[in-house]
Amino acid sequence: MNILSQIRDRFRPALANLTEGVDPLLEMIRPSQDASFGDYQANCAMPLGKQLGLPPREVAQRLIDGLNVDDFCDPPEIAGPGFINLRLKSDWLIAQLVAALSDTRLGVDTTDSPDVVVIDYSSPNVAKPMHVGHIRSTVIGDCLARVLRHLGHQVIGDNHLGDWGTQFGMIIYGYKHFVEDAAYQENPVMELSRLYQRVNRLIEFHAGKRNLPLRDQKVAQLEEQVDTQLSVCRDADEKQKKKQEKVLRKLQSQLAQTRKERDGLAEKLSQVTTDPELLRVAEEHQDIGEAVLQETVRLHAGDETNLALWNEFLPKCREEIQRVYERLDIHFDVEYGESFYHEQLAQVVDQFLESGLARESEGAICVFLEDWDAPMIIRKKDGAYLYATTDLATIRYRMDTWQPDLMLYVVDHRQSEHFSKLFTAAASWVESEVEFRHIGFGTVLGRDGRPYRTRSGDTVGLENLLDEAVAKAHAVVVDNDQRKPEPEMSEEERMQVARVVGHGAIKYADLSHNRTSDYEFDTDKMLALEGNTATYLQYSYARVQSIFRRAEVDARRQSQQVTTFDLGHAAERALALQLLRFSEALEEVLVDFRPNQLTDYLFKLAQMYSVFFEHCPVLKAETDGLRHSRLALSDLTSRTMQQGLALLGIEVVERM
Ligand code: ARG
Repeated sequence: MNILSQIRDRFRPALANLTEGVDPLLEMIRPSQDASFGDYQANCAMPLGKQLGLPPREVAQRLIDGLNVDDFCDPPEIAGPGFINLRLKSDWLIAQLVAALSDTRLGVDTTDSPDVVVIDYSSPNVAKPMHVGHIRSTVIGDCLARVLRHLGHQVIGDNHLGDWGTQFGMIIYGYKHFVEDAAYQENPVMELSRLYQRVNRLIEFHAGKRNLPLRDQKVAQLEEQVDTQLSVCRDADEKQKKKQEKVLRKLQSQLAQTRKERDGLAEKLSQVTTDPELLRVAEEHQDIGEAVLQETVRLHAGDETNLALWNEFLPKCREEIQRVYERLDIHFDVEYGESFYHEQLAQVVDQFLESGLARESEGAICVFLEDWDAPMIIRKKDGAYLYATTDLATIRYRMDTWQPDLMLYVVDHRQSEHFSKLFTAAASWVESEVEFRHIGFGTVLGRDGRPYRTRSGDTVGLENLLDEAVAKAHAVVVDNDQRKPEPEMSEEERMQVARVVGHGAIKYADLSHNRTSDYEFDTDKMLALEGNTATYLQYSYARVQSIFRRAEVDARRQSQQVTTFDLGHAAERALALQLLRFSEALEEVLVDFRPNQLTDYLFKLAQMYSVFFEHCPVLKAETDGLRHSRLALSDLTSRTMQQGLALLGIEVVERM
């Protein structure tokens, strides 16, 4: 039962009597911010009044006259300029609670129109260990998969591994020139990752050396322009001033940006120039950029040595990544990496050429797209295929295999241009109603507000972060346990709880931030016992469980058999309503694919339970009836939290 949808469904005919295009008006029916204005509020009479040229209060009255909600709402009230306030009937609320109590799905229905949804998520480039940047795609994608499935959609989770790109050219080159055998024997992935980094540094060094003078020039040029513009502004008359200042600001921001780029290059150069050994190697490998590309080309052309190396490296890289997935309880339905599509790329290009969607331009095969200046290249002049070509082949494969209604790509927002172009190109190619969505997300930042890195400037390994979070969680758990009159947990249990709490904290911190914003990665904050953290929710859950432990043995069973609720106290009613809004929260997640809709819901639920618990004694309630009712509310709360957290990919513990 989704209360908000039910209310909107009832408003639909009433609105349709007055106007057309009711959907945006229906959006204006929302939960009330303040319980004294009822449970839900419709604000659509104001814009509708404007549109019809009638006083909003009169429009509100007409809406109410055409509205049929008597079966579950008290008579609607008009307030202020024309708000319509709705208050749910208590009997109806109680009946819904009773139904939820005996329902393993807690009153959440599955959809009437299930979709087939492919979710492309996690998708790391496998030649290096997973780092902090991989958290986001992995946990957001996993959460969306869980919620979609729970609501009855058919989901195919696909880990589109980067197992075929230039990064393999890099480690092949690195292996051929720099491998240390003992290190490779000892820990192959670590050694491959070192090789990757070394090759990457060298490539960046040479590219930087070429580009730095150009950047310097550009900076000097902009500095001059800014100077000139400063005097222009000084001399401008009142009328011109605003305009000239705008020009100045634009130049200044260009200057700042260019300086930043230049400093970035300079820093990369200094990483090599300050290391004599590396500098010597750099001199010996002048053409490394080109040579690495050639290694990749050879791999793709089926060169025996390179293919053998790739076959040796790949399983090791995958194992490494798999370990993280196991820890985080992440599972995919399929893991077709880029290499899977290799042999289909030529055909994709042919199809694009045949259908006239692509043509040759300066030797490359290009798809020209409306709204974009630069075309999407699908085959380079030298015959090499690109990221986009593989993505097109992937789309074709998915369409043929699953006929999805929707394809979600949970990928860093920096790739948004790639996906816009890809979707436009694919739309005219696949001839299906399939919808493509890029689910972009912001960057994980360090405390300095810059992308999270180690002191030496490297990205931070994901496993280390998980270990750190678990270690800190362990301290929290021990501290908490020791505060109890009698500590309850064995060391083994503490460790087990610490794992659940540590991993949960990392996932929750990511999911609870609006996915499009950047967020600061701070393990102390994410493990706080107060505030919007998994730790707080897990703690709240455990606290409810402890009530049942303290009550007599069959309290849980008894509470699940109640046939009525007492919602006399405002805190009881508020909690009841929040419990019944679980399905709203889940559907809200899917509106714009935002897991924070669910975290917000759960946080609020925990807060409401806490208010309830403060005002309404449970085990010491005045009557048996009241006690059962409150136990049943507690039971529903803990089950909703458990299920809600599970949909975020987070576990609960019975005590902590
Ligand atoms: N491997 C890519 C990267 O690390 C992400 C792949 C995303 N999925 C896709 N179908 N392009 O940047």
